[in-house]
Amino acid sequence: MSRKQRIVILRELLQAGLDLLGEQNEVCLGGLGSTPEDWLNLVRGADAIVADPTVPVGADLLDSAGSDLKLVANFAVGYDNVDLDACAERGVVVTNTPDVLTDATAELAVALTLAAARDVPAAERSLRAGEWSGWDPAAYRGFELTGSTVGVVGMGRIGRRYAEMLRGFGVEYLYTSRRAREEVEVELGARRVGLNQLLAEADVVSLHLSANDETRHTINRETIRLMKPSAVLVNTGRGALVDSSAVAAALAEGRLGAAGLDVYEGEPEVPPELLDAPRTTLTPHIGSATFRARDRMAELVARNIVEVLAGRDPVTPVG
Ligand code: DGY
Repeated sequence: MSRKQRIVILRELLQAGLDLLGEQNEVCLGGLGSTPEDWLNLVRGADAIVADPTVPVGADLLDSAGSDLKLVANFAVGYDNVDLDACAERGVVVTNTPDVLTDATAELAVALTLAAARDVPAAERSLRAGEWSGWDPAAYRGFELTGSTVGVVGMGRIGRRYAEMLRGFGVEYLYTSRRAREEVEVELGARRVGLNQLLAEADVVSLHLSANDETRHTINRETIRLMKPSAVLVNTGRGALVDSSAVAAALAEGRLGAAGLDVYEGEPEVPPELLDAPRTTLTPHIGSATFRARDRMAELVARNIVEVLAGRDPVTPVG
């Protein structure tokens, strides 16, 4: 009888995914509280590993897993936590969960755009604190999305969906992308420009880039200087895209209009300067956190495992 294949879920996979893994496999769960040391032990003899954005997958973890390891299935579309070269050197396939979270993440970007532009969290806090003394024409004013210029930095799947969702606001679009996206130019009248021009002209700047050495701190002290003092910055990509000290300082000094952020460098720590910054809407990395998207992500993780462990091609390989 052939041995059971060992699938190690370093933290957690939702039931929708677990249901697909079948009883013929040995499934081990680290749990949300597991530590990097636990992971090194847990992965020993694994055929497949399930990681997520909080789990760095590097040479040490892969070597601890050993030579049976065939797959790292990342429970996320982003895979900056996975050392792709180290995986390739060991012949380990890497998969992610694209498409199924596009709508959910784009919707959160829209929510953050509106919440930040109108500073909804501050208005709500003020109301709850009993500070609201009645309708006041000068109070609680924010920026209006209708008719504004929206800059989409990175016109991939999520950036495009975000742009499509804003159509009802009658906005104009600028975008950056390594290659021209004819579909969005035709469909939305979007104009492809360089990053500096986008930053200088956009009223809303929404980041939809993957994190790597090239994109680290795309928004920094210098690039913020190019932006309008009323600009709304939105980040649902990765925390590393933004220098949070520079953003917090610009908000505090009125050189940036507002920020809606879902991701942070060094999560789950949130840079304290952002917590103190004015006109800032902060959410805890919930871009894909809808019931539908997270279930579908879990299913895709499991489908990749089933395919690869059966010797077939992965459904959504990375690279
Ligand atoms: C992703 O899939 O990369 C998301 O950030 C996870 O929520």
